[in-house]
Amino acid sequence: MGAGAPTLNAQTVELSSPNGRNVVQVSVESGRLVYTVAHSGRAVLQKSGLGIAFRGAPRLQRGIRLIDTVRSRRDSTWRQPWGEVRQVRDHYQELRVRVAETAGLRRTFTVLFRAFDDGVAFRYDLPAQPNLGAFAISEELTEFAFADNPKTWWIPANRRAMDRFEFLYASSPLSMIDSVRSPLTMEMQSGPVVVLHEAHLEDYAAMDLARVGERTLRPALAPWADGVKVRGRTPFVTPWRTIQIADSPAELVPSVMGLNLNPPNRIADTRFIEPLKYDGIWWGMHAGKYTWPSGPKHGATTENAKRYIDFAAANGLRGTLVEGWNVGWSGDWIGTYGREFSFTRAYPDYDLRAVADYARSRGVQLILHNETAMGIGNYERQLDSAFELYKSLGVSSIKTGYVNDKTAEGHAHTGQFMVRHHRKVIETAAKYGITVNAHEPIMDTGERRTWPNMLSREGARGGEYNAGGPDGGNPPEHETILFFTRLLAGPMDYTPGVFDIRLATSSGRARMPGEPRVRTTLAKQLALYVVLYSPVQMAADIIESYEGQPAFQFVRDVAVDWDTTRVIDGKIGDYVVVARKAAARDEWFVGAITDENARDLSVPLDFLDAGTRYRAEFYADGPTAHWLDNPTEMIIRSEAVTATSTLRLQLAPGGGQAIRLREIP
Ligand code: NOJ
Ligand code: CA
Repeated sequence: MGAGAPTLNAQTVELSSPNGRNVVQVSVESGRLVYTVAHSGRAVLQKSGLGIAFRGAPRLQRGIRLIDTVRSRRDSTWRQPWGEVRQVRDHYQELRVRVAETAGLRRTFTVLFRAFDDGVAFRYDLPAQPNLGAFAISEELTEFAFADNPKTWWIPANRRAMDRFEFLYASSPLSMIDSVRSPLTMEMQSGPVVVLHEAHLEDYAAMDLARVGERTLRPALAPWADGVKVRGRTPFVTPWRTIQIADSPAELVPSVMGLNLNPPNRIADTRFIEPLKYDGIWWGMHAGKYTWPSGPKHGATTENAKRYIDFAAANGLRGTLVEGWNVGWSGDWIGTYGREFSFTRAYPDYDLRAVADYARSRGVQLILHNETAMGIGNYERQLDSAFELYKSLGVSSIKTGYVNDKTAEGHAHTGQFMVRHHRKVIETAAKYGITVNAHEPIMDTGERRTWPNMLSREGARGGEYNAGGPDGGNPPEHETILFFTRLLAGPMDYTPGVFDIRLATSSGRARMPGEPRVRTTLAKQLALYVVLYSPVQMAADIIESYEGQPAFQFVRDVAVDWDTTRVIDGKIGDYVVVARKAAARDEWFVGAITDENARDLSVPLDFLDAGTRYRAEFYADGPTAHWLDNPTEMIIRSEAVTATSTLRLQLAPGGGQAIRLREIP
């Protein structure tokens, strides 16, 4: 068994990552279990406490003694059915630290630590025992006590209004933040870049982070309506707390530690799961051309849906999303928690079966929208009948939505109640052969490893804010932050590809200065397909906007499933350059984006196969392009390149560049 007596006598146990660079030390100090984390000899976390507070029982934190430790290790590689990388190496050293209270209830628990080369993680394991059976957690007492005052990139966690993730990021020293969302990306003064997040969230509340000391954070758990954070019964394991560590922001991606900490795939036959690009009856509603409810401007008519399906079929997009097809949209659907929503009954001008048949005949997947407005009871009651119907119609994809601050029952948007709900939707969908893309979701904690039908989600301020909402749209730096923050959790359905940048056609009117509009160049809209990873990528604009647009060729060509991802360069909030190799074809794509500053970037093509010639197709900002007053000026050209070539990319203010690289046979 394990580390044996000498380590126990010293009362400090140490665990290091396979390459020795990440080191965790665990000890008991004055009866409290604490841990530290160091990277390359530099402290990341100072002594940080561990423990759990319960409602109706003493907290599990004091009077602790070590019982024993058990070590193990693993080095294996597994394959993703789809993803930003095909092969994932799961390589770590593990330490189980078993402790018990010395007096009182004499409860016992284990903290399970894993040290990977890209970070460390731990979770609590509460075994079944007489004095700890059914429980209600009021607070998780885990601490993250930072060794210096990192610069943090954060969005607020605010339970009262807009209890979602749809905010612009701010940056400030850790010592200035209050309560923020996870994942939280931090640049330490001493060098390392650290990301706090969680993995394998299955039956617990989602984790926000609250500052409880000058430079100390603690999980803040979203509550049930009665204030309890987590209900459970032993034996019980908590989600993993993950501390991803890298030497530079570029090394944070691809971020796979969270996937490694989730159980393997449980779907035997994954053939119904297809990464795809899609168009949809969607932006037209946000921009003002169409409405969700039936009426003179109804978007989801049978005829219009067929038009979008035709467009998808003609352009190699394999899916069409339809929103506003089902009854329940008229009236105050948010205020009533979507009480009127039916997930099986269509508006009279939308022939559900005819559209589904038509999509199938054109080889296009119909993606049906299920907006719940957080009326969870209403949705769950219909779940089986709706999915049964979709299956019978040959529909194998849904997009869900959770626009509201709380559930109709008063539970938090990301509390245990909702975590259970999302699992139920994923598992029920899997049973019916349906994939899920969730908006206003809970944050990604690696569910896709176990349930690869959980394709994508929103969970950040997406492209929809360029059509409405506060602040005039997403500022040019937004996506350069998302890449290093939200996207570390997993794929995001950002909805790029708006070509009518000023929303002239899609809204039916010219917009006033300051009104929301797209604040990127057209080239950057293309680059986002490569930069912001999602296995489902929308051609978000109304289809009329793509007519006669040579730049649309890139949207037709770009891959959505990847063998390899390489971040070439990047700085949080400034710019990103990423190269990805398409799955199952010899093609690479490069995406580069910048904030409001123009940039001149060099991209060595040393990731290409040596000795092979490639045709590079460039979609670049024109010489006087600018997101504000000249967003669509673009140069499309091609040139032969090899692995020894270095590209010079010139990005306009708010600009970008998209490149396709194909082998020349
Ligand atoms: C918000 C979602 O993000 C958006 O995609 C959807 O169109 C609306 N809710 C309506 O459900
Ligand atoms: Ca949204």
